[in-house]
Amino acid sequence: MSEPYPHLAKKVASYLDKTDAQRIDYIRSPRWLSYPGADDAIRRLENLLTEPLKHRMPNLLIIGDTNNGKTMLVKRFCNQHKPQENPGGDASIIPVLYMQAPPVPDENRFYNTILELLFAPYKSADRPDKKQFQVIKLLKAVGLKMLIIDEIHHILAGVMTKQRAFLNVIKYLGNELQIPIVGVGTQDAFRAIQTDLQLSNRFDRVILPRWSNDDEFLNLLCTFEMAIPLKNPSNFADEPAVVDLIYSMSEGYLGEVSRIMVAASIYAIESSSEKIDKKMLGKIGWVNPSNRRKEPRS
Ligand SMILES: Nc1ncnc2c1ncn2[C@@H]1O[C@H](COP(=O)(O)OP(=O)(O)OP(=O)(O)O)[C@@H](O)[C@H]1O
Ligand SMILES: [Mg+2]
Repeated sequence: MSEPYPHLAKKVASYLDKTDAQRIDYIRSPRWLSYPGADDAIRRLENLLTEPLKHRMPNLLIIGDTNNGKTMLVKRFCNQHKPQENPGGDASIIPVLYMQAPPVPDENRFYNTILELLFAPYKSADRPDKKQFQVIKLLKAVGLKMLIIDEIHHILAGVMTKQRAFLNVIKYLGNELQIPIVGVGTQDAFRAIQTDLQLSNRFDRVILPRWSNDDEFLNLLCTFEMAIPLKNPSNFADEPAVVDLIYSMSEGYLGEVSRIMVAASIYAIESSSEKIDKKMLGKIGWVNPSNRRKEPRS
C-alpha cells in the first residue's frame, strides 16, 4: 500500500490522528531541522572536540546575522555532549560548556557566569585574577574539552583597550586549559578578533549567512513541510510564487521562516485548508522584520 501522506515524515504523519489542538501544540513547540549550513557547522564542532591536545589549540568563530540559527545549533551540539556523572571522581565530567557572554565587557561578570554555571560558590567581591584561578581549576576538574561563548560580540565591544583585555582573557583560558574556544556572534566579533593577529590566526570561521532565495531555501521549506503535520501537501517545488512570498516575508532569516511556517500552518488547520498557499499567507497578519523596526504612524 502506498503511503497516504508522502509529504510528511512518518512520525509527523502520526500526529494527523490527534486533535487539532494537539497538532497546534506540536507545531508551536521547538523543533530541530537539519540544513547544510548547520550540518557543516556541527561537523566542524565535532572535529574540534576530538582534536588531539596540543600547545596551540585551534578555535572557531560561528558568525552570522541575528535570528539565523547560531544559538540553536550550538545548543544542539551541547545536547549531544551532555555532562556525565562521575561516581568515582570529585566532579561530574562536562565535555562542553555553553555560556552567554555578559552584556558588557566585564571580566568579573564573565567569570561569575562560568562559576554560576558550575554551581561553584564564589565571592562576588573577589578580584578577577582570583576568580580566573578558580575558574581554570574548576574547568580542569570537570575535564572540559570545549568552551562555547555565545554573544561573544558583547565582550569584544567597546573601546580598544577593553577589547584587547578580553582577547587576552580568551587567549589565556584557551592556553591554560588547552581546549578549543568557540565564539558565537555577529560580524562585530569577527572584526574584533581580526585586530589581534595572534588570535585571528587561531580562529577558523563558519559563517551562517542570511538565506538567499535559491534551491537551498526551497529545500528548507520542504524540510519544514515534512516536519509539520498538515493533511495536504503545499508542494513548494511547484509553487515558486509561494516560495518567493515566504522569502520576502522572512527577508531570509531562519527564525522568521520558522515563525511564518508556524503561523501559516495554524491558519491552515483552523481554516481547514490544511496546506500553505499564497492567499492565506496574506491573512496571517505578518509584518516584515524591517517594517517592525519602524515607528508606527500616528
Ligand atoms: N535548525 C533549526 N531548525 C528549526 N528552526 C530553527 C533552527 N535553527 C533556528 N531555528 C529557528 O530560528 C530561531 C532563531 O534561532 P537562534 O536563536 O539560534 O538564532 P541566532 O542566530 O542565535 O540569533 P541571535 O543572533 O539573535 O542570537 C529559533 O528560535 C528557531 O525558531
Ligand atoms: Mg543567539
